[in-house]
Amino acid sequence: MKLFLDTASVKEIRTMWEIGILDGVTTNPTLVAKEGRKFEEVLREICALGVPSVSAEVVATDVEGMLREGRHLRGLHPSIYVKVPMTPAGLQATKTLASEGTRVNMTLVFSANQALLAAKVGAAYVSPFIGRLDDQGEVGMELIRDIVAIYSNYRFSTEILVASVRHPVHVLEAAKLGAHIATMPYAVMEKLVQHPLTDLGLARFLKDWEKVPRG
Ligand code: G3P
Repeated sequence: MKLFLDTASVKEIRTMWEIGILDGVTTNPTLVAKEGRKFEEVLREICALGVPSVSAEVVATDVEGMLREGRHLRGLHPSIYVKVPMTPAGLQATKTLASEGTRVNMTLVFSANQALLAAKVGAAYVSPFIGRLDDQGEVGMELIRDIVAIYSNYRFSTEILVASVRHPVHVLEAAKLGAHIATMPYAVMEKLVQHPLTDLGLARFLKDWEKVPRG
């Protein structure tokens, strides 16, 4: 399973990249706005680290605009995946971009039928937002279960990128279901690493080591 950071903070990305547990990055207009920096400058810095998959979202809502922005973003660096929203225009643009060899991440997916359509137009990734479904009183992880089953029925090669992840249990459940990727905030990835018993155990080993005769 691949682990992505859902952030536009180069500092956060660099930290996890250096530890060696990061497989990719997803950004969206909200995350980019939070950084207060130029979008393309941020993208170039992330790509320069060597991160192999970096999702950058188009903001046009019409097909021509999506194609123009998508082709431009793709040309910035070979690691760029173009993020396109799940709308009729988004589906049409994805079909064209995919036929040109651009890897598209279809975003804002909230139903299994939408995920089926994303696969049919050749998206490289589909991004179901599970946290936002949970917020609405639905069980987001059930959507992942359905998409895993549908993609397996028809052997679609579109990878399931579990998005809007809010806590480590989302990552655990997504892994148990066989989702290909989970993208998460920095704080959630940190929690995957940490366990209080690891800290306590290490402190005790180091304390006991002091009693071992030297020399
Ligand atoms: O990047 C898309 C998605 O992960 C956003 O998550 O927390 O804003 O629902 P969230």
